[in-house]
Amino acid sequence: MRPDFALLDRLRNRFLDAPSKGGDYWESPEMLALYDSTFGERIGWKWDSVLAELRARHWAPPPGTALVDWGCGSGIAGRRVLRAFGADLFTRLVVHDRSALARRFAAERATSTFPGLAVEQSPDWGELAPAEPFTLVISHVLNELAPAESAALLALVRRATAVVWVEPGTSEVARALVPIREELRNTFAVVAPCTHQGACGLLTPENHRHWCHHFARPPIEAFTEAFWSEFALRLSIDLRSLPYSFLVLDRPPAGCGPEAPTPEGWSRILGDPREFKGHFKVLSCEHCGVTERVLQKRDDKALFKAMRRVPPPPVFAWTIRDEKIVGGEHWPVPGSETGKSDEAVSSPESDASEEAPPA
Ligand SMILES: C[S@@+](CC[C@H](N)C(=O)[O-])C[C@H]1O[C@@H](n2cnc3c(N)ncnc32)[C@H](O)[C@@H]1O
Repeated sequence: MRPDFALLDRLRNRFLDAPSKGGDYWESPEMLALYDSTFGERIGWKWDSVLAELRARHWAPPPGTALVDWGCGSGIAGRRVLRAFGADLFTRLVVHDRSALARRFAAERATSTFPGLAVEQSPDWGELAPAEPFTLVISHVLNELAPAESAALLALVRRATAVVWVEPGTSEVARALVPIREELRNTFAVVAPCTHQGACGLLTPENHRHWCHHFARPPIEAFTEAFWSEFALRLSIDLRSLPYSFLVLDRPPAGCGPEAPTPEGWSRILGDPREFKGHFKVLSCEHCGVTERVLQKRDDKALFKAMRRVPPPPVFAWTIRDEKIVGGEHWPVPGSETGKSDEAVSSPESDASEEAPPA
């Protein structure tokens, strides 16, 4: 069946207008199904990238929590988390959205995908038993929330056991996550993207033009299937560019202060490494701040090659000499090691990464 591109276009315009218009925009289960297989699937690719990084960084949500998908829409984020970590890790799935149609759709999809899983539709997150430990999943909602709604969401975040939050990679939304991180880093361990627990290095005046964003790699079918090429053409979406921002938090064990789980000395690349003749420039987020660093090919050919991967391995331990990278090691990200050659589709320049939400 041919997708209804006029409906997709209308839906996208509605997302773009959401902050000014407010109100529920889901009209039918068919609209949610169309979203789920298009914009939602594209958001799912970002989740795949985040979840692969979390696994590479040896982090999983604590076992025995309820999984709460807040602002679930079609429920793609919750299902990606269940697929990545296994439904058995969670006591149940709770889907919350202001739209009853969305809650029902997300619950039905989750039930059919994970038959043994208890799934609950929650019209009011506040009804959640306060004592129940829960892992909170938030995806592409921030720019739809009025200030009072953001405050209510943050109150819920404060009660969570762990939080996995993925948003678009636009400068506006990525920058909105920074004060949230700053507010929560005294309560939660910062798991990712940061490798450290200290103040965000992007808050310094010399880094004001940067924002913390990353690029996911779309699956091969995005470039081989006729459907996706028509989707890209009709909606003027560059499928190669999949920028996102994210924040993952974990509550420290009782009696302990929050501590980033990443060992000291590791750094996270922001955006994409930029290749020039014989050298790369990377924006490196480190314990001591965010710094632009240069790696020359002649200094470490293997590391130079690793930089060319799409996406690059996110976490590195650099060897630094005279402020330059002269060597280092990285943690592999499952999936980025295979099927990706240096000639594979590359993301456009990271500084040109402004995209239209939500996908
Ligand atoms: C762009 S969609 C994203 C849906 C889904 N999280 C995803 O990533 O595909 C935003 C969702 O947030 C929901 N939403 C917006 N404001 C909300 C609020 N104040 N409370 C609950 N849900 C809200 C919308 O109904 C919509 O389903």
